[in-house]
Amino acid sequence: MRIFVVGGSGMLGGDVVSETRRRGHYVEAPVHSDFDLTEPESVATLPGRGPYDWVVNCAAYTAVDRAESEADAAAALNALGPRYLAMACALTGSRLLHVSTDYVFDGAKGLPYTEEDPTNPIQVYGLTKRDGEENVLSAGARAVVVRTAWLYGPHGRCFPRSIIDAWVAGKSLRVVADQVGSPTYTPELARSMIDLLERNPAEGIYHAAGPEAMSWHEFAVRAVTAYATATADERPIDIAAIPTAEWPTPAKRPRETVLDSRMLASMGIPPMESVDLSLAKFAAALATESRTS
Ligand SMILES: NC(=O)c1ccc[n+]([C@@H]2O[C@H](COP(=O)([O-])OP(=O)(O)OC[C@H]3O[C@@H](n4cnc5c(N)ncnc54)[C@H](OP(=O)(O)O)[C@@H]3O)[C@@H](O)[C@H]2O)c1
Repeated sequence: MRIFVVGGSGMLGGDVVSETRRRGHYVEAPVHSDFDLTEPESVATLPGRGPYDWVVNCAAYTAVDRAESEADAAAALNALGPRYLAMACALTGSRLLHVSTDYVFDGAKGLPYTEEDPTNPIQVYGLTKRDGEENVLSAGARAVVVRTAWLYGPHGRCFPRSIIDAWVAGKSLRVVADQVGSPTYTPELARSMIDLLERNPAEGIYHAAGPEAMSWHEFAVRAVTAYATATADERPIDIAAIPTAEWPTPAKRPRETVLDSRMLASMGIPPMESVDLSLAKFAAALATESRTS
């Protein structure tokens, strides 16, 4: 297949580009300055570049707290840009895979969210991502939206990297224990996404997230434990569990947004590996990085 990846320099996008190449597909991944999703004239160059079987959009405005004060910038990249992209795809006959988030939900369901559950975002980031979903699904590009959650990967800033860095620096750590979600390792998500494309899926929404639900606190403890094991560091792992009320942020966070990924499983797509296995790989990559830097 011929695949065009937008946001290929990002944490997820980099792994999508690698996985696509590994499987022998042809991939193009322009840099942000060469294909700017917020510039209609830039997106309008798509028909002159192709043809592509699939366009994969991994670009997004992902700064959840900053979005509260930069709503226009977040909407430009998360809602309007995907609309231009979906329109360009519809024109050229390319299908579009657009990545979205568990933060389109309010977190009040108390059970894992399926693709049929109604959205109800509670912060600007989630609102703009929800608008992006609606825009791509209504543009006639036979689009699929892949919702995922709590991403971490070897090639980007992410929660477990920040926690590990702080632990290595000897800082005292407090992490929220009453928000629950589905940590998702970007190389595993990239594999599931390409598995999905290779099945020529029906238009619509698909959930693709890691196989275990946990709190940020549990995720932090397991990430640092993996890193301590990878580096044979025997210092204590002392991370205080705190309630959300003790960690105020500009954006409200949903309480529980575990994603039910059974629809992918029903299509024969293998589940993602366990969080501990992914964290062991992640920690090994970080340990190598710190030895060589
Ligand atoms: N991170 C998470 O925990 C999380 C959770 C759930 C869902 N998601 C979703 O997963 C997807 C990937 O997230 P990520 O964390 O991998 O993102 P990321 O690392 O922040 O990468 C964002 C990418 O977008 C590119 N980009 C920024 N502005 C652009 C523009 N105007 N035009 C074209 N490209 C532009 C960036 O390029 P430059 O760096 O060159 O600007 C970068 O390649 C997003 O849709 C996000 O909403 C993320």
